[in-house]
Amino acid sequence: MGCQYFDPCDHGADTFTIAIPKLTFGRGCLREAGARAAGLGMTRVGLFTDPGLRDSTYFDAVLESLKQAGLDIAVFDEVTIEADDASVERGATFIAEGNFDGVVSIGGGSVMDTAKASMLYGLHPPDEFLDYFAPPLGAGRVMPRSLLPHLACPTTSGTGSECTSISVLRINDMATKFVLANPVLLPQEALIDPACSDTLPAMVVASTGFDLLCHALECYTAKAYTRWDRQEDPLKRPLIQGANPWSDLAARKALEIAGEYLERGVNSADDHEARDNLMWGASLAGMAFGNTGTHLGHALSYGVTHLMHDITTNGYAVKSPFVPHGISVVVSAPAIFRYTAAAAPERHFEAASYLQSDLQDAGVDDAGEALAKRLIELMRKTEVPNGLGGVGFGLADVPALAASSARQVRAIANSPRETNLVDIENIYAAAISY
Ligand SMILES: [Fe+2]
Repeated sequence: MGCQYFDPCDHGADTFTIAIPKLTFGRGCLREAGARAAGLGMTRVGLFTDPGLRDSTYFDAVLESLKQAGLDIAVFDEVTIEADDASVERGATFIAEGNFDGVVSIGGGSVMDTAKASMLYGLHPPDEFLDYFAPPLGAGRVMPRSLLPHLACPTTSGTGSECTSISVLRINDMATKFVLANPVLLPQEALIDPACSDTLPAMVVASTGFDLLCHALECYTAKAYTRWDRQEDPLKRPLIQGANPWSDLAARKALEIAGEYLERGVNSADDHEARDNLMWGASLAGMAFGNTGTHLGHALSYGVTHLMHDITTNGYAVKSPFVPHGISVVVSAPAIFRYTAAAAPERHFEAASYLQSDLQDAGVDDAGEALAKRLIELMRKTEVPNGLGGVGFGLADVPALAASSARQVRAIANSPRETNLVDIENIYAAAISY
């Protein structure tokens, strides 16, 4: 492809696959929901949202549009702020009993992820909830080739779930989140209306903004797809396939957007230019990581949400313990990119430049430090917690955090630099405060 990073490797992949839905982006586009749903062949719609959004003008706009298109609608709003197995079991019953021919979701990642999994579990129930998850956690049960058509409408600028084949679910018994990833979970269409971000509290824009930033940064610095083993059966090609020329395009633009607009979007709800761009950046980053996979940022966030205790976050009406996803990712990010830069210095240097790092006297060897400094600067300016210490962890917690996150095997292997348990412990220890 004319790029050294993707030079062929022995036994390495020589093909990559890109899957994205049809997208519509623009202020007010939620009013197209009815026509879009009808265009997908829907006549009876299962409409997913959460209790907070049920009274919002965004939900009303979608409901009204679906009604005007003459569609029959039933609403499911029992989604918790972190999608979990209990929400999915309720959603699956709703799907199984609802006789729907399509699903519309309006909400953040939790709503869209619950809608995706509810179709899977409602239409093709496994014996045990974990059966569809990859071993050793689950049985790796083969997913069906199709579910119902899904029109996804995001209301936050972070998750990118409207553009991915991924559903992240908390398994309550284990207090840990795990990932379902399969092409069948990809929505057919997305309606991205940036007006939905107008009323988001600053800390929600910060958390979701760092989520999008880290999606893009992890994609851009991920191991090249040519360094993953070749997969001859195209239907078995994993979604975590490594950085590729497509994800480079989307991740680069998403990084430029985060560099330019994250601080502005957090600090002013009236800054439509900033918030609209963040909404677009979130979808771009979703299109990137849905076809690349994340790496250490997300892998190490799982230990944080698994072991968090006695912690709440401003702007989120959720009882303790709660650390929003984007914060759980970014608290370790400066330490992570200081560590990974040595394995792909040019990529880290480019990423630092897209994020508007100060590179005046910096060379490629300073890329990790420059990137870390810029991340810390953005964290300070948006008032997010300063490292793991800011979300209640100390050095004594490091072994348990590392043991928990080490279970995210494929994401860790998507890091550009070989990373073992001791490396993860060292990264966490360096992430306590900046
Ligand atoms: Fe994320």
